[in-house]
Amino acid sequence: MAIPLSIQWINGQLIILNQQKLPHETEYITLNTIEDAFDAIITLKVRGAPAIGITAAFGLALAAQRHETETLEVFHHYVKKDAIYLGSSRPTAVNLVWALSRLQQSINSAKTVEDAKAQILAEAIRIHEEDEQACRNIGGYALDLLEGRTKVLTICNAGSIATAKYGTALAPFHLGKELGREFEVYACETRPVFQGARLTVWELQQAGVDVTLITDSMAAHTISAKGIEAIIVGADRIAANGDTANKIGTLNLAILAAAYNIPFYVAAPVSTFDLQIPNGKNIPIEERSAEEITYVAGQPIAPKNTKVFNPAFDVTPAHYITAIITEKGIIHPDYERNIQELLVAVK
Ligand code: MRU
Repeated sequence: MAIPLSIQWINGQLIILNQQKLPHETEYITLNTIEDAFDAIITLKVRGAPAIGITAAFGLALAAQRHETETLEVFHHYVKKDAIYLGSSRPTAVNLVWALSRLQQSINSAKTVEDAKAQILAEAIRIHEEDEQACRNIGGYALDLLEGRTKVLTICNAGSIATAKYGTALAPFHLGKELGREFEVYACETRPVFQGARLTVWELQQAGVDVTLITDSMAAHTISAKGIEAIIVGADRIAANGDTANKIGTLNLAILAAAYNIPFYVAAPVSTFDLQIPNGKNIPIEERSAEEITYVAGQPIAPKNTKVFNPAFDVTPAHYITAIITEKGIIHPDYERNIQELLVAVK
């Protein structure tokens, strides 16, 4: 039993777990170029907000190593162009542009192109390492909040393979396992891409955590029939007022938590907050291809040319959220004030 990893930097090579192939095949692939990194992100070979940020960071650093110029100004120009390209791969998770801008800032004081190349790679490695520690901290805070509760529902995959390790929403289950605390996790399958069925169930099974799969439409019944005691989800972008974008279907669960009077927790590192955005209305929501809905496992399930609406994320208004769990501490309402306070304290 082991917690699976999705991103590894080994001897100067970026190796990722191909999440498209799970759960049938555990395939690791090497991303050699910036185009490889872009493709891996857009095709969901790697997904989950922190994991796409880390992959983009390594993609940018890899490309930077190959730029041939002696002039710092030209080098900065290349890096900026590359960052814009990678940043356009997926629009909702802010961790992507957060990581890319951290890398760009890391070379501001470089004196030579060689320096800048070393610094940009070092920053990508740092982002990767910091995320593992952040997720472990999130797990610790989440365990405190979940004290006395064992039956927990989640959606999508906000796990180890969506981050450097441990995950955000799944961190308390992995950390709980290490510390001898058992949970009964219920995973929504997460239509249309099935991150719950394919990824969360696989990941928790790998780690020896008890997990039960349900379809998304079974959530309300399961809460009452199985006595679910809390819901915990990840996040792709959290606005300044606490409104939270996460995988489509998250909002349904938040409304159910309120109806059944159980806590609804969001777990996310501080890199997922976007204080430039005042509220959820301004969060860009990715829309993906119609085929994700009209086909299941390669088979058509709807008439040809069916009109489809396929938003990949929804926004949960802050007032449904019981607490936001970060690596720096737990944020309770009033979110507008307390998010600001925590994030300013961090800087
Ligand atoms: O489309 P995906 O699979 O990238 O969506 C992922 C999610 O919505 C996760 O819950 C979120 O990114 C948090 S991952 C720790």
